[in-house]
Amino acid sequence: MKILVVGSGGREHALAWKLAQSERVQMVYVAPGNGGTAADARLVNVDITDPAALADFVVAEHIALTLVGPEAPLAAGIVNLFRSRGLKIFGPTREAAQLESSKDFAKAFMQRHGIPTATYQSFSDAAQAHAYVDANGAPIVIKADGLAAGKGVVVAMSLEEAHAAVDHMLSDNAFGDAGARIVIEEFLAGEEASFIVMCDGKHVLPMATSQDHKRLKDQDQGPNTGGMGAYSPAPIVTPAMHARVMREIINPTIQGMAKDGITFTGFLYAGLMIDAEGNPRTLEFNCRMGDPETQPIMARLKSDYVTVLEHACNGTLDQVELEWDRRTAVGVVMAAAGYPDSPRKGDVIEGIPVETPECVTFHAGTQVVDGKLQTNGGRVLCVVGLGDSVKMAQKQAYEGVDKIRFDGAQFRRDIGWRGVR
Ligand code: AMP
Ligand code: GLY
Repeated sequence: MKILVVGSGGREHALAWKLAQSERVQMVYVAPGNGGTAADARLVNVDITDPAALADFVVAEHIALTLVGPEAPLAAGIVNLFRSRGLKIFGPTREAAQLESSKDFAKAFMQRHGIPTATYQSFSDAAQAHAYVDANGAPIVIKADGLAAGKGVVVAMSLEEAHAAVDHMLSDNAFGDAGARIVIEEFLAGEEASFIVMCDGKHVLPMATSQDHKRLKDQDQGPNTGGMGAYSPAPIVTPAMHARVMREIINPTIQGMAKDGITFTGFLYAGLMIDAEGNPRTLEFNCRMGDPETQPIMARLKSDYVTVLEHACNGTLDQVELEWDRRTAVGVVMAAAGYPDSPRKGDVIEGIPVETPECVTFHAGTQVVDGKLQTNGGRVLCVVGLGDSVKMAQKQAYEGVDKIRFDGAQFRRDIGWRGVR
């Protein structure tokens, strides 16, 4: 069987790596892929990004099913297009992907269906937005409505920052159409967790839990990023918390979408904030796997993922029970110089260790130029270590990280720290 993975990040490398381990797979294509998927003998990069051209490729190559990594093609309707051509694809339709592609849609949806989240209001008028900020005070959170590649959220600790964010998005048009409308919401304190499930339209299958590290620097300092590392499982999601999140957030979301006339298929990722009293609230929805959460999650998955995806496409996820490695996986992102503002490209990467049962390196922003591996984006690599405790997994991951060299490399030394306490 042949499979296509759409995307070029560390998430897609990890998904393709996992799928290629299946005995049932003959070939995994990655479109467009990266330097790591290019180097793996079991994977083949395909230089196509246009959805219609990808559908043609799938037909020509007799590809059995397609898995989509990033949000942009989902929001553009790649699932609608593939299905209209009778092709098997796992992901949300354009309509379902609005849970991620419009914060205003997601907030109104949560309010309508009683799903716990921060109180909010939406604005397209700057004067009204400024007045709302003044009326509510800081800290307060300003979000661009549309997709902004992880840059559209400002957690403003002062009124000054909040007003500046409103001006940046509404008056200076910093995110174009994506920021023509903004959501202003209550600041929530607590600990975050990533709660990701697969949905086939009828059934829900939870993936292993995980926790991301959004800030660039150790001890959660510095600017927000796409994610500097993640580990799985996340101890804060106890079995009781898991049951509660399913009951209060995940199931009402799938049912709410159905009530609104939208069948949800694909990954549903609830970004949670769990307060000091242990109440989970939804910060955001994504309609895809997380990056870098996917890397430690796939490193722990023991089940054949091809079979799981087939069930997901056929509406039979109720027949699947996922088997997980009992070890903890810690994934450390190595980012380029200048990330997140202006990542430098073209630095030569050396020393990536050979994969072992305790350590695997997934590529993101890498490419091979004249036979040499170079940086080619903000997040460059994610080194995943596995161990019987968070500490032991950290040790494995950082032994890998310490072997890798490229100029200007930035990474955190404390990925998984909340799980060590
Ligand atoms: P989002 O893309 O909505 O998940 O926001 C990115 C990050 O901003 C989250 O992972 C949180 O760290 C932070 N954040 C978002 N919304 C809030 C909120 N209401 N209160 C506190 N922090 C938030
Ligand atoms: N790691 C956060 C995200 O994928 O959105």
